[in-house]
Amino acid sequence: MSTKQAKMILEKDFRIGEIDKRIYGSFIEHLGRAVYGGIYEPGHPAADENGFRRDVIDLINEIGVPIIRYPGGNFVSGYNWEDGIGPVGQRPKRLDLAWRTVEPNVIGTNEFMAWAKSVQAEVNMAVNLGTRGIDDARNLVEYCNHPSGSYWSDLRISHGVREPHAIKTWCLGNEMDGPWQIGHKTADEYGRLAQEAAKVMKWVDPAIELVACGSSGRGMATYADWEATVLDHTYHHVELLSLHTYYGNRTDDIRSYLAKSLDMDAFIGEVIAICDYVKAKKRSKKTMYLSFDEWNVWYHSHEADKKLEPWTVAPPQLEDVYTFEDALLVGSMLITLLRHADRVKIACMAQLVNVIAPIMTENGGAAWRQTIFYPYMHASVYGRGIALNPIIYSPKYDSKEYTDVPYLEATAVYSEEEETLTIFAVNKDTEEGLLLEADIRGFAGYRVVEHLVLENPDVKAANTAAAPDRVVPHNRGNAGVKDGYVQALLPKLSWNVIRLSQ
Ligand code: AHR
Repeated sequence: MSTKQAKMILEKDFRIGEIDKRIYGSFIEHLGRAVYGGIYEPGHPAADENGFRRDVIDLINEIGVPIIRYPGGNFVSGYNWEDGIGPVGQRPKRLDLAWRTVEPNVIGTNEFMAWAKSVQAEVNMAVNLGTRGIDDARNLVEYCNHPSGSYWSDLRISHGVREPHAIKTWCLGNEMDGPWQIGHKTADEYGRLAQEAAKVMKWVDPAIELVACGSSGRGMATYADWEATVLDHTYHHVELLSLHTYYGNRTDDIRSYLAKSLDMDAFIGEVIAICDYVKAKKRSKKTMYLSFDEWNVWYHSHEADKKLEPWTVAPPQLEDVYTFEDALLVGSMLITLLRHADRVKIACMAQLVNVIAPIMTENGGAAWRQTIFYPYMHASVYGRGIALNPIIYSPKYDSKEYTDVPYLEATAVYSEEEETLTIFAVNKDTEEGLLLEADIRGFAGYRVVEHLVLENPDVKAANTAAAPDRVVPHNRGNAGVKDGYVQALLPKLSWNVIRLSQ
């Protein structure tokens, strides 16, 4: 049997568009050990003078995370942001009904903004449209962004923060279509509230941009109608619409599991179609962009979470231990986002530390990189510039859940400034390597700098505190350029980054 072959044709002028670096964003919610025990642990040997773990900051800086969504998630729909400002000793402890925990409010808006600065990230701030509304939303914008001379801006200054935070991106609530959400609403109820909140938030600061809630998943019964109705109310007031998705391999069927990026691709395509339908209906010239502000694998921790005691501070919730196969799907999802770089302007891997996260910590102990850290880090570091639109020919397979699944999931990013070309590719074949031939004759003089590969003989291999380096990439891939063609063997079940430059 001869090895399967796939082809790509790459041209500098075949472009999807400029990549907004914010598609490499992430998310930190007041949930589990994301904040307390994750980014913040005073007394830890690596903690800085403010109690933030430097080892965690270093790992985040390795990825280069341009934007971080905060403070939720489901948490935000019951959050009083005023609980998290002012002297820490006077802040209330509250029951968080979303996750059945106790929120100590030691970290609030100003502490988080200071921490975000230390990882050079913008913050995508969510307002509570569950239990609260227009007034609290506009007050938070005033507290954060107004220079001075008003009640809330002067209060911020009295809390030691003279310069406004100048937060640009704001989420109008979270997953308001979900019955699990505190303050769950119908599309019309949410659409009206979001429209009015958006209006006054922009009256306080016209420089902000706003994200309206789309569905919390493609499988929701109200999906599509929700988007159309919400946009009907908000189209002129918001810049982006959100999408959320999580996948899992519950049936232990890797061929179907790795095909789930096709679902993500279809989801994005459908939401674009709905946005453009509303655009047409409104005879609008404005294009609605997408914020895929929650995406990841999430299923490993479901059973463990059911056994946790309620009403504790920072319990180990949603602590998925990611396997090698999860990293392959995450890589495929990143490629899918890049293929929609013309419309997806923000995407947040959910989440960043401990909670369904690429980075794990032990309280008082180590911090390490989960398997999914690597494709995320590679895409963020090497995937800046122009998303190319390659022509791809790949052999395909059928799985139990999907038909016509290309073995090769791939795309390429070109940086005109740096004169680099990077091919991201996943070989989903469980049996054998895939020979890739990429036509790069339009990139005269380009040679392979490095061919990074993430592969592992055990699809269930994971990185843990005891064995943090079981799944790590190597740069011994065999890609080379001959007569204007990149030739590479992509090992069976592998994530590949082929870096080329002049
Ligand atoms: O990221 C975990 C949770 O998933 C978020 O709180 C919620 O928005 C989603 O359902």
